[in-house]
Amino acid sequence: MQISDTTIDLYGFQRSDFGPDFRWGVATASYQIEGAWNEDGKGLSIWDTFSHRKRWPIPTVRTGDTGDVACDFYHRYRDDVALTGELGFNAKRFSISWPRVLPNGVGSVNQAGLDFYSRVVDACLERNIEPWITLYHWDLPQTLHDRGGWPNRDIVQWFGEYVDVVASKLGDRVKRWMVFNEPMSFCFGGYLVGIGAPGIVSRQKFLASVHHVNLCQAIGARVLRDRVPDAIIGTTHIITPAHATGESARHLRAQRSLDALFNRIYVEPNLGLGYPLSDSSFIRPIERYIRSGDDAALRVDFDFMGVQYYTRVSAPPLPIPLIGTLPIPTFNVRRYEINAMAQSCQPEGIHEVLTRFHKYGRFPSIVVTENGTAVPDVVEGDKVHDLRRVNYLRQHINQVLRAKREGVPVDGYFCWSLLDNFEWAEGYDARFGIVYTDFATQRRIVKDSGLWFRAMLRGADA
Ligand code: GCO
Repeated sequence: MQISDTTIDLYGFQRSDFGPDFRWGVATASYQIEGAWNEDGKGLSIWDTFSHRKRWPIPTVRTGDTGDVACDFYHRYRDDVALTGELGFNAKRFSISWPRVLPNGVGSVNQAGLDFYSRVVDACLERNIEPWITLYHWDLPQTLHDRGGWPNRDIVQWFGEYVDVVASKLGDRVKRWMVFNEPMSFCFGGYLVGIGAPGIVSRQKFLASVHHVNLCQAIGARVLRDRVPDAIIGTTHIITPAHATGESARHLRAQRSLDALFNRIYVEPNLGLGYPLSDSSFIRPIERYIRSGDDAALRVDFDFMGVQYYTRVSAPPLPIPLIGTLPIPTFNVRRYEINAMAQSCQPEGIHEVLTRFHKYGRFPSIVVTENGTAVPDVVEGDKVHDLRRVNYLRQHINQVLRAKREGVPVDGYFCWSLLDNFEWAEGYDARFGIVYTDFATQRRIVKDSGLWFRAMLRGADA
Protein backbone atom coordinates (compact mmCIF):
# COMPACT_ATOMS: atom_id res chain seq x y z
CA MET A 1 0.00 0.00 0.00
CA GLN A 2 1.34 3.42 -0.86
CA ILE A 3 -0.29 6.15 1.10
CA SER A 4 2.21 8.93 0.89
CA ASP A 5 1.68 10.80 4.15
CA THR A 6 2.76 8.38 6.81
CA THR A 7 2.57 10.98 9.53
CA ILE A 8 -1.17 10.43 10.00
CA ASP A 9 -2.32 7.58 12.16
CA LEU A 10 -3.64 5.30 9.44
CA TYR A 11 -6.35 3.51 11.37
CA GLY A 12 -6.75 3.56 15.11
CA PHE A 13 -8.77 0.34 14.75
CA GLN A 14 -8.53 -2.99 13.02
CA ARG A 15 -11.04 -5.00 11.10
CA SER A 16 -11.19 -7.59 13.85
CA ASP A 17 -12.36 -4.94 16.37
CA PHE A 18 -15.73 -5.06 14.60
CA GLY A 19 -16.09 -8.85 14.76
CA PRO A 20 -16.25 -11.50 12.05
CA ASP A 21 -19.87 -10.89 11.04
CA PHE A 22 -19.55 -7.17 10.47
CA ARG A 23 -20.49 -6.11 6.93
CA TRP A 24 -18.04 -3.86 5.13
CA GLY A 25 -19.60 -2.46 2.02
CA VAL A 26 -19.84 0.25 -0.57
CA ALA A 27 -23.10 1.98 -1.47
CA THR A 28 -24.29 3.19 -4.87
CA ALA A 29 -27.57 4.24 -6.49
CA SER A 30 -29.06 3.43 -9.90
CA TYR A 31 -29.39 6.89 -11.43
CA GLN A 32 -26.03 8.00 -10.08
CA ILE A 33 -24.00 5.23 -11.76
CA GLU A 34 -25.89 3.21 -14.37
CA GLY A 35 -26.23 5.47 -17.40
CA ALA A 36 -28.01 3.62 -20.26
CA TRP A 37 -30.86 5.99 -19.58
CA ASN A 38 -32.90 4.93 -22.59
CA GLU A 39 -31.55 1.47 -23.38
CA ASP A 40 -33.15 -1.96 -23.52
CA GLY A 41 -36.68 -0.79 -22.85
CA LYS A 42 -36.06 1.41 -19.82
CA GLY A 43 -38.73 4.06 -19.21
CA LEU A 44 -37.93 7.63 -18.17
CA SER A 45 -37.55 8.59 -14.57
CA ILE A 46 -38.15 11.98 -13.01
CA TRP A 47 -34.37 12.41 -12.78
CA ASP A 48 -34.02 11.90 -16.55
CA THR A 49 -36.58 14.63 -17.08
CA PHE A 50 -35.19 16.92 -14.40
CA SER A 51 -31.58 16.72 -15.58
CA HIS A 52 -32.58 17.30 -19.21
CA ARG A 53 -34.50 20.47 -18.42
CA LYS A 54 -33.31 23.85 -19.57
CA ARG A 55 -31.67 25.39 -16.57
CA TRP A 56 -33.20 28.74 -15.97
CA PRO A 57 -35.62 29.74 -14.46
CA ILE A 58 -36.60 26.25 -13.36
CA PRO A 59 -34.18 24.69 -10.89
CA THR A 60 -32.26 21.68 -12.14
CA VAL A 61 -28.67 20.35 -12.13
CA ARG A 62 -26.25 23.19 -11.40
CA THR A 63 -23.58 22.04 -13.84
CA GLY A 64 -25.97 21.10 -16.65
CA ASP A 65 -24.87 17.46 -16.36
CA THR A 66 -27.22 14.51 -16.81
CA GLY A 67 -27.05 10.88 -15.72
CA ASP A 68 -27.32 9.67 -19.33
CA VAL A 69 -23.98 7.90 -19.12
CA ALA A 70 -22.83 8.45 -15.51
CA CYS A 71 -20.33 5.66 -14.65
CA ASP A 72 -21.73 3.41 -17.39
CA PHE A 73 -22.28 0.78 -14.71
CA TYR A 74 -25.01 -0.77 -16.86
CA HIS A 75 -22.28 -2.00 -19.21
CA ARG A 76 -19.34 -2.18 -16.81
CA TYR A 77 -20.96 -3.78 -13.78
CA ARG A 78 -18.81 -6.91 -13.92
CA ASP A 79 -15.58 -4.96 -13.60
CA ASP A 80 -16.98 -2.69 -10.90
CA VAL A 81 -18.25 -5.61 -8.86
CA ALA A 82 -14.88 -7.32 -9.30
CA LEU A 83 -13.14 -4.17 -8.08
CA THR A 84 -15.40 -4.09 -5.02
CA GLY A 85 -14.21 -7.60 -4.19
CA GLU A 86 -10.57 -6.75 -4.86
CA LEU A 87 -10.77 -3.91 -2.38
CA GLY A 88 -11.87 -6.43 0.22
CA PHE A 89 -15.54 -5.50 0.70
CA ASN A 90 -18.01 -8.26 1.51
CA ALA A 91 -21.21 -6.33 0.73
CA LYS A 92 -22.49 -4.06 -1.99
CA ARG A 93 -25.51 -1.83 -1.63
CA PHE A 94 -27.21 -0.76 -4.86
CA SER A 95 -30.65 0.38 -5.90
CA ILE A 96 -33.12 -0.74 -8.55
CA SER A 97 -34.37 1.75 -11.11
CA TRP A 98 -38.15 1.40 -11.00
CA PRO A 99 -38.63 2.55 -14.65
CA ARG A 100 -35.97 0.12 -15.88
CA VAL A 101 -38.08 -2.68 -14.49
CA LEU A 102 -41.55 -1.23 -15.07
CA PRO A 103 -41.24 1.42 -17.81
CA ASN A 104 -44.71 2.74 -17.05
CA GLY A 105 -44.38 2.31 -13.31
CA VAL A 106 -47.06 -0.39 -13.27
CA GLY A 107 -48.25 -3.00 -15.76
CA SER A 108 -45.89 -4.57 -18.24
CA VAL A 109 -42.51 -5.68 -16.98
CA ASN A 110 -39.33 -4.93 -18.92
CA GLN A 111 -37.66 -8.31 -18.75
CA ALA A 112 -34.31 -6.92 -19.96
CA GLY A 113 -34.24 -4.49 -17.06
CA LEU A 114 -35.06 -7.15 -14.51
CA ASP A 115 -32.44 -9.48 -16.04
CA PHE A 116 -29.80 -6.77 -15.68
CA TYR A 117 -30.30 -6.65 -11.91
CA SER A 118 -30.34 -10.41 -11.79
CA ARG A 119 -26.90 -10.43 -13.46
CA VAL A 120 -25.58 -7.83 -11.00
CA VAL A 121 -26.78 -10.00 -8.11
CA ASP A 122 -25.07 -13.06 -9.60
CA ALA A 123 -21.86 -11.13 -10.20
CA CYS A 124 -21.84 -10.16 -6.52
CA LEU A 125 -22.56 -13.68 -5.30
CA GLU A 126 -19.84 -15.16 -7.50
CA ARG A 127 -17.35 -13.01 -5.61
CA ASN A 128 -18.80 -13.61 -2.16
CA ILE A 129 -20.15 -10.10 -2.01
CA GLU A 130 -23.52 -9.90 -0.35
CA PRO A 131 -26.02 -7.90 -2.43
CA TRP A 132 -28.01 -5.33 -0.43
CA ILE A 133 -30.85 -3.87 -2.45
CA THR A 134 -32.49 -0.48 -2.03
CA LEU A 135 -35.89 -0.47 -3.73
CA TYR A 136 -36.18 3.27 -4.20
CA HIS A 137 -33.31 5.72 -4.50
CA TRP A 138 -35.28 8.60 -6.05
CA ASP A 139 -35.82 7.64 -9.72
CA LEU A 140 -39.61 7.57 -9.87
CA PRO A 141 -41.06 6.55 -13.27
CA GLN A 142 -42.01 9.74 -15.11
CA THR A 143 -45.36 8.21 -16.08
CA LEU A 144 -46.26 7.89 -12.41
CA HIS A 145 -45.21 11.45 -11.76
CA ASP A 146 -47.53 12.47 -14.60
CA ARG A 147 -50.30 10.66 -12.70
CA GLY A 148 -49.59 12.62 -9.54
CA GLY A 149 -46.45 10.91 -8.20
CA TRP A 150 -45.75 10.79 -4.47
CA PRO A 151 -48.46 13.35 -3.60
CA ASN A 152 -51.09 10.96 -5.06
CA ARG A 153 -52.17 8.30 -2.58
CA ASP A 154 -52.57 5.77 -5.41
CA ILE A 155 -48.82 5.40 -5.22
CA VAL A 156 -49.25 3.05 -2.29
CA GLN A 157 -50.80 0.58 -4.72
CA TRP A 158 -48.23 1.27 -7.46
CA PHE A 159 -45.33 0.86 -5.09
CA GLY A 160 -46.65 -2.45 -3.73
CA GLU A 161 -46.88 -3.78 -7.29
CA TYR A 162 -43.33 -2.70 -8.07
CA VAL A 163 -41.89 -4.26 -4.91
CA ASP A 164 -43.72 -7.48 -5.72
CA VAL A 165 -42.11 -7.68 -9.18
CA VAL A 166 -38.58 -7.09 -7.89
CA ALA A 167 -38.86 -9.29 -4.81
CA SER A 168 -40.33 -12.16 -6.82
CA LYS A 169 -37.43 -12.08 -9.25
CA LEU A 170 -34.48 -11.50 -6.93
CA GLY A 171 -35.69 -12.77 -3.55
CA ASP A 172 -34.30 -16.25 -4.14
CA ARG A 173 -30.76 -14.80 -3.95
CA VAL A 174 -31.10 -11.44 -2.21
CA LYS A 175 -31.77 -11.48 1.54
CA ARG A 176 -30.90 -7.92 2.50
CA TRP A 177 -33.45 -5.30 1.51
CA MET A 178 -33.94 -1.60 2.16
CA VAL A 179 -37.27 -0.11 1.18
CA PHE A 180 -36.19 3.52 0.74
CA ASN A 181 -33.15 5.69 0.53
CA GLU A 182 -33.55 8.80 2.65
CA PRO A 183 -37.20 9.84 2.40
CA MET A 184 -36.20 13.20 3.87
CA SER A 185 -33.93 14.04 0.95
CA PHE A 186 -36.31 13.29 -1.89
CA CYS A 187 -39.46 14.65 -0.19
CA PHE A 188 -37.82 17.83 1.09
CA GLY A 189 -35.57 18.36 -1.95
CA GLY A 190 -38.12 17.31 -4.57
CA TYR A 191 -41.39 18.74 -3.24
CA LEU A 192 -40.61 21.51 -0.76
CA VAL A 193 -37.51 23.34 -1.93
CA GLY A 194 -37.33 22.05 -5.51
CA ILE A 195 -33.60 21.34 -5.65
CA GLY A 196 -34.13 17.72 -6.70
CA ALA A 197 -36.53 15.99 -9.10
CA PRO A 198 -39.33 16.71 -9.76
CA GLY A 199 -38.43 20.27 -8.71
CA ILE A 200 -41.70 21.18 -7.00
CA VAL A 201 -42.08 23.84 -4.31
CA SER A 202 -45.32 23.15 -2.43
CA ARG A 203 -46.00 22.65 1.25
CA GLN A 204 -49.11 20.59 0.51
CA LYS A 205 -47.44 18.30 -2.01
CA PHE A 206 -44.52 17.88 0.32
CA LEU A 207 -46.70 16.86 3.26
CA ALA A 208 -48.79 14.51 1.12
CA SER A 209 -45.59 12.91 -0.20
CA VAL A 210 -44.22 12.40 3.29
CA HIS A 211 -47.35 10.57 4.41
CA HIS A 212 -47.53 8.41 1.29
CA VAL A 213 -43.85 7.52 1.52
CA ASN A 214 -44.37 6.48 5.13
CA LEU A 215 -47.28 4.28 4.08
CA CYS A 216 -45.10 2.79 1.34
CA GLN A 217 -42.37 1.97 3.87
CA ALA A 218 -44.84 -0.33 5.55
CA ILE A 219 -46.40 -1.73 2.38
CA GLY A 220 -42.97 -2.34 0.87
CA ALA A 221 -41.82 -4.19 3.98
CA ARG A 222 -45.01 -6.29 4.04
CA VAL A 223 -44.74 -7.30 0.40
CA LEU A 224 -41.10 -8.25 0.92
CA ARG A 225 -41.93 -10.29 4.01
CA ASP A 226 -44.58 -12.11 2.03
CA ARG A 227 -42.50 -12.82 -1.06
CA VAL A 228 -39.17 -13.46 0.68
CA PRO A 229 -39.94 -14.97 4.07
CA ASP A 230 -36.28 -15.14 5.10
CA ALA A 231 -35.52 -11.56 4.03
CA ILE A 232 -33.79 -9.22 6.45
CA ILE A 233 -35.68 -5.99 5.93
CA GLY A 234 -34.75 -2.44 6.71
CA THR A 235 -34.84 1.01 5.28
CA THR A 236 -32.47 3.97 5.38
CA HIS A 237 -32.71 7.44 6.86
CA ILE A 238 -30.38 10.36 6.73
CA ILE A 239 -30.20 11.99 10.12
CA THR A 240 -28.81 15.49 10.36
CA PRO A 241 -28.69 16.33 14.05
CA ALA A 242 -29.92 19.87 14.68
CA HIS A 243 -28.41 21.52 17.74
CA ALA A 244 -29.92 24.36 19.74
CA THR A 245 -27.87 27.54 19.92
CA GLY A 246 -29.03 28.46 23.44
CA GLU A 247 -31.03 27.12 26.35
CA SER A 248 -34.07 29.38 26.41
CA ALA A 249 -37.52 28.06 25.52
CA ARG A 250 -37.25 29.93 22.21
CA HIS A 251 -33.99 28.18 21.35
CA LEU A 252 -35.33 24.78 22.28
CA ARG A 253 -38.50 25.36 20.27
CA ALA A 254 -36.42 26.19 17.20
CA GLN A 255 -34.36 23.05 17.66
CA ARG A 256 -37.43 20.84 18.04
CA SER A 257 -39.07 22.39 15.00
CA LEU A 258 -36.11 21.65 12.77
CA ASP A 259 -35.58 18.18 14.17
CA ALA A 260 -39.25 17.36 13.52
CA LEU A 261 -39.10 18.59 9.92
CA PHE A 262 -35.67 17.18 9.08
CA ASN A 263 -35.64 13.91 10.93
CA ARG A 264 -38.59 12.71 12.99
CA ILE A 265 -41.50 12.87 10.51
CA TYR A 266 -39.86 10.25 8.30
CA VAL A 267 -38.95 7.85 11.08
CA GLU A 268 -41.46 7.95 13.91
CA PRO A 269 -44.81 7.26 12.17
CA ASN A 270 -43.51 3.80 11.17
CA LEU A 271 -42.62 3.11 14.80
CA GLY A 272 -46.17 3.82 15.91
CA LEU A 273 -45.17 7.16 17.44
CA GLY A 274 -47.24 9.32 15.09
CA TYR A 275 -46.21 12.67 13.66
CA PRO A 276 -44.53 15.15 16.03
CA LEU A 277 -47.34 17.68 15.46
CA SER A 278 -46.83 19.58 18.69
CA ASP A 279 -43.23 20.36 17.80
CA SER A 280 -43.88 21.76 14.33
CA SER A 281 -46.69 24.03 13.14
CA PHE A 282 -45.37 23.64 9.63
CA ILE A 283 -46.27 19.96 9.42
CA ARG A 284 -49.71 20.15 11.05
CA PRO A 285 -51.69 20.15 7.76
CA ILE A 286 -50.35 16.62 7.15
CA GLU A 287 -53.42 15.55 9.12
CA ARG A 288 -55.64 16.11 6.12
CA TYR A 289 -53.87 13.24 4.30
CA ILE A 290 -54.26 10.77 7.14
CA ARG A 291 -57.20 8.39 6.82
CA SER A 292 -58.71 6.16 9.42
CA GLY A 293 -56.71 2.97 9.75
CA ASP A 294 -53.48 4.64 8.69
CA ASP A 295 -51.95 4.51 12.16
CA ALA A 296 -51.99 0.73 12.01
CA ALA A 297 -51.07 0.64 8.31
CA LEU A 298 -47.95 2.71 9.03
CA ARG A 299 -46.50 0.36 11.63
CA VAL A 300 -43.60 -1.76 10.62
CA ASP A 301 -41.07 -3.77 12.54
CA PHE A 302 -37.81 -3.47 10.69
CA ASP A 303 -35.12 -6.11 11.15
CA PHE A 304 -32.49 -3.41 10.86
CA MET A 305 -32.26 0.32 10.47
CA GLY A 306 -29.94 1.93 7.93
CA VAL A 307 -28.46 5.16 9.23
CA GLN A 308 -26.81 7.65 6.89
CA TYR A 309 -24.76 10.47 8.25
CA TYR A 310 -22.90 13.36 6.68
CA THR A 311 -23.09 16.46 8.85
CA ARG A 312 -24.69 18.34 11.76
CA VAL A 313 -26.39 21.74 11.77
CA SER A 314 -27.47 24.43 14.21
CA ALA A 315 -31.06 25.60 14.60
CA PRO A 316 -31.02 29.24 15.80
CA PRO A 317 -34.37 30.97 16.41
CA LEU A 318 -35.18 33.01 13.28
CA PRO A 319 -38.28 34.89 12.09
CA ILE A 320 -39.20 32.21 9.52
CA PRO A 321 -42.98 31.74 9.40
CA LEU A 322 -44.21 28.42 10.86
CA ILE A 323 -40.72 26.96 11.12
CA GLY A 324 -38.98 29.51 13.33
CA THR A 325 -35.47 28.49 12.29
CA LEU A 326 -33.26 27.37 9.43
CA PRO A 327 -30.53 24.74 9.29
CA ILE A 328 -27.28 26.63 9.63
CA PRO A 329 -24.09 24.67 9.03
CA THR A 330 -22.13 24.54 12.27
CA PHE A 331 -18.83 25.83 11.02
CA ASN A 332 -15.94 25.77 13.40
CA VAL A 333 -13.05 25.95 11.02
CA ARG A 334 -10.44 25.35 13.64
CA ARG A 335 -12.09 22.16 14.74
CA TYR A 336 -13.95 20.77 11.75
CA GLU A 337 -12.96 20.49 8.13
CA ILE A 338 -15.37 21.77 5.44
CA ASN A 339 -15.78 19.42 2.48
CA ALA A 340 -16.48 20.15 -1.19
CA MET A 341 -20.24 20.14 -0.46
CA ALA A 342 -19.76 22.89 2.12
CA GLN A 343 -20.54 20.36 4.84
CA SER A 344 -18.81 20.58 8.17
CA CYS A 345 -17.22 17.20 8.90
CA GLN A 346 -17.98 16.31 12.51
CA PRO A 347 -17.05 12.70 13.25
CA GLU A 348 -18.77 12.64 16.67
CA GLY A 349 -22.03 13.24 14.79
CA ILE A 350 -22.07 9.64 13.55
CA HIS A 351 -21.79 8.44 17.14
CA GLU A 352 -24.64 10.79 18.03
CA VAL A 353 -27.00 9.44 15.35
CA LEU A 354 -26.21 5.80 16.07
CA THR A 355 -26.88 6.34 19.74
CA ARG A 356 -30.07 8.19 18.98
CA PHE A 357 -31.44 5.36 16.84
CA HIS A 358 -30.50 2.83 19.47
CA LYS A 359 -32.50 4.81 22.03
CA TYR A 360 -35.71 4.21 20.11
CA GLY A 361 -35.27 0.67 21.41
CA ARG A 362 -36.82 -0.76 18.27
CA PHE A 363 -33.97 -1.89 16.06
CA PRO A 364 -32.27 -5.21 16.71
CA SER A 365 -29.58 -4.18 14.30
CA ILE A 366 -28.29 -0.85 13.01
CA VAL A 367 -26.17 -0.47 9.91
CA VAL A 368 -24.36 2.61 8.65
CA THR A 369 -25.69 2.41 5.10
CA GLU A 370 -23.90 5.59 3.93
CA ASN A 371 -21.05 7.74 5.12
CA GLY A 372 -18.38 9.49 3.10
CA THR A 373 -17.15 12.83 1.87
CA ALA A 374 -16.50 14.89 -1.25
CA VAL A 375 -13.07 16.40 -1.69
CA PRO A 376 -11.53 18.08 -4.74
CA ASP A 377 -9.46 15.14 -5.93
CA VAL A 378 -6.44 15.58 -8.16
CA VAL A 379 -5.04 12.83 -10.39
CA GLU A 380 -1.26 12.61 -10.24
CA GLY A 381 -0.10 10.07 -12.78
CA ASP A 382 -2.09 7.01 -11.83
CA LYS A 383 -2.63 8.05 -8.22
CA VAL A 384 -5.14 10.11 -6.31
CA HIS A 385 -3.79 11.09 -2.90
CA ASP A 386 -7.07 11.84 -1.18
CA LEU A 387 -5.72 12.03 2.33
CA ARG A 388 -8.56 14.25 3.45
CA ARG A 389 -10.96 11.44 2.64
CA VAL A 390 -8.75 8.86 4.35
CA ASN A 391 -8.75 11.04 7.42
CA TYR A 392 -12.51 11.52 7.30
CA LEU A 393 -13.15 7.79 6.99
CA ARG A 394 -10.69 6.94 9.74
CA GLN A 395 -12.28 9.38 12.16
CA HIS A 396 -15.85 8.38 11.38
CA ILE A 397 -15.19 4.65 11.52
CA ASN A 398 -13.50 5.14 14.88
CA GLN A 399 -16.68 6.81 16.13
CA VAL A 400 -18.71 3.87 14.82
CA LEU A 401 -16.47 1.56 16.81
CA ARG A 402 -16.95 3.75 19.88
CA ALA A 403 -20.73 3.38 19.54
CA LYS A 404 -20.42 -0.37 19.05
CA ARG A 405 -18.26 -0.71 22.15
CA GLU A 406 -20.86 1.21 24.11
CA GLY A 407 -23.47 -1.36 23.16
CA VAL A 408 -25.13 0.06 20.04
CA PRO A 409 -25.79 -2.99 17.82
CA VAL A 410 -23.97 -1.66 14.75
CA ASP A 411 -23.51 -4.51 12.30
CA GLY A 412 -22.15 -2.88 9.17
CA TYR A 413 -20.58 0.12 7.54
CA PHE A 414 -21.12 1.10 3.90
CA CYS A 415 -18.95 3.77 2.43
CA TRP A 416 -20.55 6.29 0.08
CA SER A 417 -19.37 5.64 -2.53
CA LEU A 418 -17.44 3.09 -4.59
CA LEU A 419 -17.09 5.47 -7.55
CA ASP A 420 -17.26 9.18 -8.18
CA ASN A 421 -20.72 9.49 -9.70
CA PHE A 422 -23.61 11.80 -10.61
CA GLU A 423 -24.11 13.80 -7.43
CA TRP A 424 -27.69 14.96 -8.11
CA ALA A 425 -27.99 18.75 -8.35
CA GLU A 426 -24.19 19.04 -8.11
CA GLY A 427 -23.69 17.02 -11.31
CA TYR A 428 -20.22 15.47 -11.60
CA ASP A 429 -18.51 18.20 -9.62
CA ALA A 430 -18.68 16.59 -6.20
CA ARG A 431 -16.55 13.46 -6.01
CA PHE A 432 -17.42 11.00 -3.24
CA GLY A 433 -15.72 7.85 -4.58
CA ILE A 434 -12.90 5.82 -3.12
CA VAL A 435 -12.31 5.03 -6.78
CA TYR A 436 -11.81 7.93 -9.19
CA THR A 437 -13.96 7.98 -12.31
CA ASP A 438 -12.55 9.69 -15.38
CA PHE A 439 -15.91 10.50 -16.95
CA ALA A 440 -14.40 11.11 -20.42
CA THR A 441 -12.84 7.65 -20.71
CA GLN A 442 -14.59 5.72 -17.92
CA ARG A 443 -11.18 4.79 -16.58
CA ARG A 444 -11.20 3.91 -12.87
CA ILE A 445 -8.29 4.82 -10.58
CA VAL A 446 -8.28 3.46 -7.05
CA LYS A 447 -7.68 6.43 -4.77
CA ASP A 448 -5.54 6.25 -1.65
CA SER A 449 -8.78 5.89 0.32
CA GLY A 450 -9.55 2.72 -1.67
CA LEU A 451 -6.06 1.41 -0.94
CA TRP A 452 -6.53 2.33 2.69
CA PHE A 453 -9.73 0.29 2.85
CA ARG A 454 -8.05 -2.61 1.06
CA ALA A 455 -5.14 -2.72 3.48
CA MET A 456 -7.50 -2.68 6.45
CA LEU A 457 -9.95 -5.21 5.01
CA ARG A 458 -7.49 -7.66 3.49
CA GLY A 459 -4.71 -7.32 6.01
CA ALA A 460 -1.93 -4.77 6.23
CA ASP A 461 0.17 -6.18 3.38
CA ALA A 462 -2.55 -6.13 0.75
C1 GCO B 1 -27.84 11.16 -0.32
C2 GCO B 1 -27.86 9.95 -1.15
C3 GCO B 1 -26.70 9.78 -2.03
C4 GCO B 1 -25.79 10.97 -2.15
C5 GCO B 1 -24.79 11.04 -1.01
C6 GCO B 1 -23.79 12.16 -1.13
O1 GCO B 1 -27.56 11.05 0.84
O2 GCO B 1 -28.10 12.23 -0.81
O3 GCO B 1 -28.24 8.77 -0.57
O4 GCO B 1 -27.35 9.52 -3.22
O5 GCO B 1 -25.11 10.94 -3.34
O6 GCO B 1 -25.46 11.21 0.17
O7 GCO B 1 -24.41 13.40 -1.03
